[in-house]
Amino acid sequence: MSRPIDHNKIVILTGAGVSAESGLQTFRDSDGLWNNYNVADVATPQAWQRNPQLVLDFYNHRRSEAAKAQPNAAHLAIAELEKNFDVTVITQNVDDLHERAGSSNVIHIHGELNKVRSTLDPELIYNIGDKPIKPGDTCDKGAQLRPHIVWFGEIPEHMDTASQHLKTAGKVLVIGTSLAVYPAAGLLKKARHHAEKIIVALDIERKPYGYTWLRGKAGDIVPHIVNCWLEGRRP
Ligand code: OAD
Repeated sequence: MSRPIDHNKIVILTGAGVSAESGLQTFRDSDGLWNNYNVADVATPQAWQRNPQLVLDFYNHRRSEAAKAQPNAAHLAIAELEKNFDVTVITQNVDDLHERAGSSNVIHIHGELNKVRSTLDPELIYNIGDKPIKPGDTCDKGAQLRPHIVWFGEIPEHMDTASQHLKTAGKVLVIGTSLAVYPAAGLLKKARHHAEKIIVALDIERKPYGYTWLRGKAGDIVPHIVNCWLEGRRP
């Protein structure tokens, strides 16, 4: 039997659009990263085999950009929800702006820029902060370190935990994702029929069934939704 939904539980599922107003590029918008880089050259295990320096340069640059960015009104509003609700943030983003805004429970399903891991033993994960990874930087077992990022062709992390959270949430708020990448986009279907479900984005591939789409900028719309929920009203 499925577990009942918890009306005090909110799941926030975010993508690159929630960090756009912090100055970080999205992927598929007209000024997005995938318009300037070929995914196959920088974000696949094959790219790492072929040209590790190019891959390191790409993520070293993104790490330094993310370190300079500040949380925006949407990140800060999401953190405010913890005053009254049990909140879990599930993010496809590899920046740490949710954590820096004050969110306590953040699940990164596509990895984290400020961590590195061993190419020999994936259990060996280290914090690197805003520092670059260089060829010759090694783990405790002597193997080269790589970005702690889920590349195309690799399996996203913590998907079972993320699904469980969605299945019991009374409210689900999806922000700034085109829903173009699976299995992450498939998580939306895990939310329950009776849950309140909203998506905030400038554009999406297709509106998911059962969700209300609020079209606009996260920094404008998310604080309004949060205020309504904190005051016990529907947005
Ligand atoms: P995309 O670039 O695919 O989508 C960004 C979404 O954010 C689009 O729906 C935009 O309309 C929306 N958006 C842009 N600016 C916004 C703003 N200010 N307020 C609200 N919405 C805004 O990014 P993701 O969906 O996150 O994966 O991409 C998913 C995955 O594809 C990423 O995690 C990454 C990428 O390849 C990996 O690298 C494995």
